Amino acid sequence: MISTVATTPFEGQKPGTSGLRKKVRVFQQPNYAENFIQSVFDVAERPAGSTLVIGGDGRFHNRTVIQQAIRIAAANGYARVLVGKGGILSTPAASHVIRKYGASGGLILSASHNPGGPEEDFGIKYNIANGGPAPEAVTEAIYARTQTIDRWLMVEGDDIDLDRIGSSQVGDMVAQVIDPVADYADLMEELFDFPAIRATAANGAVTTAFDAMHAVTGPYAHEILERRLGFPAGTVRNGTPLEDFGGHHPDPNLVHAAELYDLMMSSAAPTIGAASDGDGDRNLIIGKSVFITPSDSLAMLAANAHLAPAYAGGLKGIARSMPTSTAADKVAEALGIPAWETPTGWKFFGTLLDAGKATICGEESAGTGSDHVREKDGLWAVLLWLNILAVTGKPVAKLAQEHWARFGRNYYARHDYEAIETANANALMAALEDALAGLPGRSFGPLTVSAADQFAYTDPVDGSESRNQGVRVMFACGSRIVFRLSGTGTEGATLRVYLERYEAPDGRLAEETPAMLADLIAAAEAIAGIAAHTGRTAPDVVT
Ligand code: G1P
Ligand code: ZN
Repeated sequence: MISTVATTPFEGQKPGTSGLRKKVRVFQQPNYAENFIQSVFDVAERPAGSTLVIGGDGRFHNRTVIQQAIRIAAANGYARVLVGKGGILSTPAASHVIRKYGASGGLILSASHNPGGPEEDFGIKYNIANGGPAPEAVTEAIYARTQTIDRWLMVEGDDIDLDRIGSSQVGDMVAQVIDPVADYADLMEELFDFPAIRATAANGAVTTAFDAMHAVTGPYAHEILERRLGFPAGTVRNGTPLEDFGGHHPDPNLVHAAELYDLMMSSAAPTIGAASDGDGDRNLIIGKSVFITPSDSLAMLAANAHLAPAYAGGLKGIARSMPTSTAADKVAEALGIPAWETPTGWKFFGTLLDAGKATICGEESAGTGSDHVREKDGLWAVLLWLNILAVTGKPVAKLAQEHWARFGRNYYARHDYEAIETANANALMAALEDALAGLPGRSFGPLTVSAADQFAYTDPVDGSESRNQGVRVMFACGSRIVFRLSGTGTEGATLRVYLERYEAPDGRLAEETPAMLADLIAAAEAIAGIAAHTGRTAPDVVT
């Protein structure tokens, strides 16, 4: 039986960089999740007989919202939902399942790398039929719908058993619980040279440590790294998904994966260490005694991708988000393929991948991926690194040195100022924008501004326009500072300051990053007045 439940709109159900993200307490309010899910179904393109994919990163409140979504989907005419066993589907696995089974879209329940638990964060993302995040036109329509919604629909009935693979009937809809890992693991086996990697695992030529951070990639990494590739048991650490991620931030960076970092800098370090985030789309790569920045990882993976079977025929193009360092552009230039610069957020890569204009994409925020799905993919990046290490037989540090000697080195860091007052953050950005026109020609220490603008983007495939995507200050020497406000935070505002300094192949390639960025850090303060606007004299997180 279908019930119609009367409701009224909630303020602020505007999807950000990556879906609707709020505190669990907010999602627990009656009608809150239901309003949003119904709004998605009211605007989504979904022909009669459509399939919907549902899965999440296993965080607290995941199972509750999955049962709500199943009941609402059944009342809205879906023919079938596919849901990962235990409510689990990593973001890249969900993207693959949507594509493989021809679903019209999917709901991914995650707040990515944000902490989980009753007092922490939750989120809902909607992905479309190509497997990628809904583009802005769709998220705007969802938001508009949330502002006028007056009812949501549901089929009454018991919860389905999420822990048993098989089908059950919910109204006229079939709810199918699937193995969340198998399809994804099969895809990885098609892309990479598993026999070569298996051989290095067997003879110990390559060793690895993978930290799943008690988040969604645990089951995937156990299956792929330990069972299919034969790395020894214990290679995967923190491999059991927990609702609160063990009380940690499942954020694969040097702050939150400090234990892995310490291991990789010690004499006991394996060849390569890696970690992934809450929903499995991010990656951290650390070689024995060398940290590879995500921007460098993107460039190095692109330069060596031809060593993996899936990319042996070459790349069609490389895309990076604007704040990501320009290291990948140098590789694209050498390969004679296009380099694309998009706004922050994976959704902007979808049209380029669909149109065959790019094969590999990446963001400075530890996101890398390819046209195999329409999301960034943490384990994919780890497996491509393992493939490259297996084929070249070179350690990570040597690959990095050779890369820099050929393309030059982009020293890079991101400084985050978290939970600052929204009004102060907005004032800082407004003042910065007012100052833009006067910046070219001005000098800050040894740096002279050559250009400054507010980044705007016109999608080369569908012509859609996105404005106000971050302030760029470019210097004559090729260095750059970018200022933007986060679109994923759930508390106040987060200011991100991205610092990049380029050294040509004949330049200083083996220096420490903080020292190389010192002039840029001083310039960022002088240009934006961070301390005056926010009261902060140092960033909360440096990545
Ligand atoms: C952050 C990252 C961005 C990434 C997004 C979703 O967004 O900076 O690269 O796509 O998370 O994982 P932000 O908070 O900066 O808007
Ligand atoms: Zn994520």
